[in-house]
Amino acid sequence: MARKDVNISYSVLDSSQELPGDEKKLVEEARAMCRQAYAPYSAFYVGAAILLENGEIVRGSNQENGAYPSGLCAERVAAFAASSMYPGVAMKKIAVSAKTNQQEVSDPVSPCGACRQVLLEYETLQKGPMKIILSKEKGRVFIIEKAVDLLPLSFTGEQLKNR
Ligand code: THU
Repeated sequence: MARKDVNISYSVLDSSQELPGDEKKLVEEARAMCRQAYAPYSAFYVGAAILLENGEIVRGSNQENGAYPSGLCAERVAAFAASSMYPGVAMKKIAVSAKTNQQEVSDPVSPCGACRQVLLEYETLQKGPMKIILSKEKGRVFIIEKAVDLLPLSFTGEQLKNR
């Protein structure tokens, strides 16, 4: 029997002020998008902003539905919008942020499993890293250098023989 370890590392900043200009702007965009979320059921408002290789920024926010599973997370709203508006253009960086009506979100929001799978699909397609910048309204920021770091031992479409 062989045992294998999977290690990922990520950076932790005290605040978005420590980010370079383009990333600070992307975090601001994600924070602004929280205010456009449609999240009447969870009251958990998430915003995402994706910087494309062509310099465009594509934004998204979570969209909920009375039939609960029909909603979609902010990350997938933004990634699907980016891929449909700019097919084949690499997604270089994605910033995500979250807020609630009451207390401050305790840690930077981290993508759910389904969103990780979707981000990984585009990262694999573009053959280059998609940097993930996680935040909340203020305070600490987490930086993950590439989507695959968030989904080790992942399934990708590469494994489908008939595609
Ligand atoms: N949500 C996101 O949009 N992104 C995340 O990373 C975590 C969760 C949304 C889904 C749902 O509308 C609400 O937050 C509560 O789970």
